Amino acid sequence: MLKDSGEFLSGQELSEKLGVSRTAVWNMIGKLREEGYQIEAVTNRGYRLVSAQDSDILNEAEIGSALRGVSWAGRNFVFKKETGSTNEDVMQYAGEGAPEGTLVIAGRQSHGKGRRGRTWISPQDGNVYMSLLLKPDYEPQQAPMVTLVAAMAVCAGMRRQGGEFYIKWPNDVVLRVKENGKDSYKKVAGILTEMVMEDAEIRSVVIGIGLNVNMKQIDEEIAETATSLYLGLHRTVNRAQLIGDIWKSFEEYYEEFKNAKDLAPLRERYEAALVNRGRKVRVLDPREPFEGTARGIDESGSLLVETRDKKLRAVSAGEVSVRGIMGYV
Ligand code: BTN
Repeated sequence: MLKDSGEFLSGQELSEKLGVSRTAVWNMIGKLREEGYQIEAVTNRGYRLVSAQDSDILNEAEIGSALRGVSWAGRNFVFKKETGSTNEDVMQYAGEGAPEGTLVIAGRQSHGKGRRGRTWISPQDGNVYMSLLLKPDYEPQQAPMVTLVAAMAVCAGMRRQGGEFYIKWPNDVVLRVKENGKDSYKKVAGILTEMVMEDAEIRSVVIGIGLNVNMKQIDEEIAETATSLYLGLHRTVNRAQLIGDIWKSFEEYYEEFKNAKDLAPLRERYEAALVNRGRKVRVLDPREPFEGTARGIDESGSLLVETRDKKLRAVSAGEVSVRGIMGYV
């Protein structure tokens, strides 16, 4: 009610509308303040929510209102202040019959999982850890493409914040930052897609997304390649709004992918956001590493790398990783 009105609401009015005592209203105001809301209380006028421009409060109510615009991705969500891994949570809910679009969001993970068996550092420091359940009817080989679709959605959602965000193939989202007068690209989001199979068919796909949002400090071991939106944009970002923007974009892109059963309709837009495009890359194929220039992707999401002898080689995600010649990008 305070948010909707933006003005002072008297304790009397609030207590009548809510059907509770004025003491109960006072107690609720106290709880909201504890959660981080700034509420002014003035004798004879009542209470007013001070709208802080850079406010960031992540709770069920804020997420619910940010996800009001989605039709299925995140309609059904669970918010946990803390969990082991949101991917694991969604897997468990999937086993219990949760519907497609179920979303788990956490403020901290004790066992955050990254790709290639790595750990995803998940402190309670203003970040977002979330996972979405899909129950697709396509073939297992199409599932990895969903990760590229998710990267497009994260990139689009982040761009609404005003920074220069790009995709590092296949699915890292990076932000252009200036460091010691030099431009570089640093990772602000990672995506881990996991699949549950049964009799050679996909049961569920879980898309896990980790966003470095308002984290004030980056662990030394990843500081060279990673940053947060707060550190890169120099302001606090509203996480609930970012979450809403990402899943709204995801629904649109996913619809196109599902109809086509590949990335053909999204290819141009993906390539427009691809930071590797036109850059020299080193393909870290364990059997045969090679170098070339990244040109784009094909409809299955493989990276097209032009080698010195002008041949295009398709590098499929999952098999190999790609690095820039001079560094991360
Ligand atoms: C990567 O290595 O780049 C992928 C990181 C994915 C991290 C997210 S955080 C939410 C979800 N739960 C997990 O345990 N991992 C993913």
